[in-house]
Amino acid sequence: MSTVGGSATIPSTVEVAAGSRAVTDFEKGRDLYNFRCYFCHGYAGDAKTLAATYLDPPPRNFTTTPLAQLPRARMIQSVTQGRNNTAMAGFKETLSKQEIVLVVDFVRQAFMSGEKPNTRYHTAGNGWPNHQRYAAAFPFAQGEIALDRAVESLTPAQRQGRKLFMASCITCHDRAKVDDEGIAWDPRPVSYPRAGYSHRLPEADAVSSATPYSIHNKAPVVKGLNAQEREGERLYQAANSCAFCHAADGTGKNWIGTFLEPHARDLTTLEGMTQQRLEGVIRDGLKGTTMPAWRDVLDEKQRAAVAAYVMRVFVPR
Ligand code: HEC
Ligand code: HEC
Ligand code: HEC
Repeated sequence: MSTVGGSATIPSTVEVAAGSRAVTDFEKGRDLYNFRCYFCHGYAGDAKTLAATYLDPPPRNFTTTPLAQLPRARMIQSVTQGRNNTAMAGFKETLSKQEIVLVVDFVRQAFMSGEKPNTRYHTAGNGWPNHQRYAAAFPFAQGEIALDRAVESLTPAQRQGRKLFMASCITCHDRAKVDDEGIAWDPRPVSYPRAGYSHRLPEADAVSSATPYSIHNKAPVVKGLNAQEREGERLYQAANSCAFCHAADGTGKNWIGTFLEPHARDLTTLEGMTQQRLEGVIRDGLKGTTMPAWRDVLDEKQRAAVAAYVMRVFVPR
C-alpha cells in the first residue's frame, strides 16, 4: 500500500482476524487510533468514555456518523488543526500528514462505514483470550443493566454476572450505569464493595483481616437447634444473606455492617423483639435503609425459619 501526496488509498481486503497483524495501512491507522484517540472516542468509536462524561461538547460518536455527513477532507482538517473551543486538539505537532490520513481512514472504515468490525479492546492480542466466557457480566459493563437494580429482580445468571463484574471488571469499567447516582456513589474514604470481598473469606481481604472485624465473621455454635432453626441458620449464614450485613455473630460489627449508613442492626440487642415482628421486618425490609425486603427471595416458610433462628440464637430473652 503506498501513500502519495498525503492521501492514502483505503485498503479493501484487510484481514482483521485476531492474531493476524499484517502491517497494512489499516492496522497502522488502528495503532495510531488506539494510542491517541481511544481515550476520548472509545475503542469502539462510540465515545462512551469517561472523558465523554465531562467534555462539552462531547467527543464525536463515529458509529452514528454516516460517511457522507462528515467528509474525509473535513476530518483530515479537524484532526490536523483541531476544533476551536473544544477538547479536540490539533495533531499537527504530534502526527505526520501521512499518519493523520491513516488514522482518519481507519476511523471511516472501522466505525463510520460499518464495513469493518469495530476495534475491540478485549481481544486475544490485547491479552484477553476467550473474553466471551465473561458474557454474564457484559450487560453490567455495557450499561444495559443498572448496577444498583434491586438484586431480587435479577435472574440467577444476572446475579452471577453482577458478582463477576464487581470482582473483576469494575476497576476499569468504573462508569457502570446506575439508576440512582446518589450518596452511595459519592467519593468516600472507603470503597465498597472491594474486589473479591467475601464475609466468608476474611483472609482474602486485606482490610477485614487486618482489623478486628474478622472475629465477627464466626457463626456461634449452638447445640440442640431444631430442624426449622437449623434451616434458618443455613439461610442466615449463606453468602450474600443476612450475615453479609449483620455479621455471622449477629452483631453487625463486621466490615460491611459498620460501613453501612445506618449500620446494620446489632441483633443481639433487640430486647423485646417478637417472632411475629421479626417475620414482618424480614418480609418487608426497612424503608430508607439497606435492610432489604426478602419477600421475593425467601418464601414464607424460609422467612419463618430465619426468624426462628434469629430469635433462638441472637435475640436476648
Ligand atoms: C484493564 C481494564 C479493563 C478490565 C479489567 C475490563 N475491561 Fe472491558 N473494556 C476495557 C476497555 C478499555 C474497553 C473498550 C471501551 C471502548 O470502547 O472505549 C472495554 C470494553 C468492553 C466491552 C465492549 C466490547 C469490547 O470488547 O470492546 C465489554 C463487553 C467489556 N469490556 C466487558 C468486560 C468484562 C465483562 C470485564 C470483567 C470480566 C471487563 N470488561 C474488564 C477495559 C477493561
Ligand atoms: C481529549 C479528547 C479527544 C481526543 C484525544 C481526540 N478527540 Fe477527536 N474530538 C473530541 C471532541 C470533544 C470532538 C467534538 C468537537 C466538536 O463537536 O466540534 C471531537 C471531534 C472529532 C472529529 C469530528 C470533527 C469535525 O469536523 O466535526 C474527528 C474526525 C475526530 N475528533 C478525530 C479524532 C482523532 C482521529 C483523534 C486521534 C488522533 C482524536 N479525535 C482525538 C475529543 C477528542
Ligand atoms: C444489605 C444489608 C442487610 C442485609 C443483607 C440484611 N440486613 Fe437486616 N438490617 C440492615 C440494616 C442497615 C438495618 C438497620 C436499619 C435501621 O437502623 O433502621 C437492619 C435491621 C434489621 C433488623 C432490625 C429491625 C427492627 O425493627 O429494628 C432485623 C431484625 C434484621 N435487620 C434482620 C435481618 C435478617 C434476618 C436478614 C436476612 C434475611 C437481614 N436482616 C439482612 C441491613 C441488612
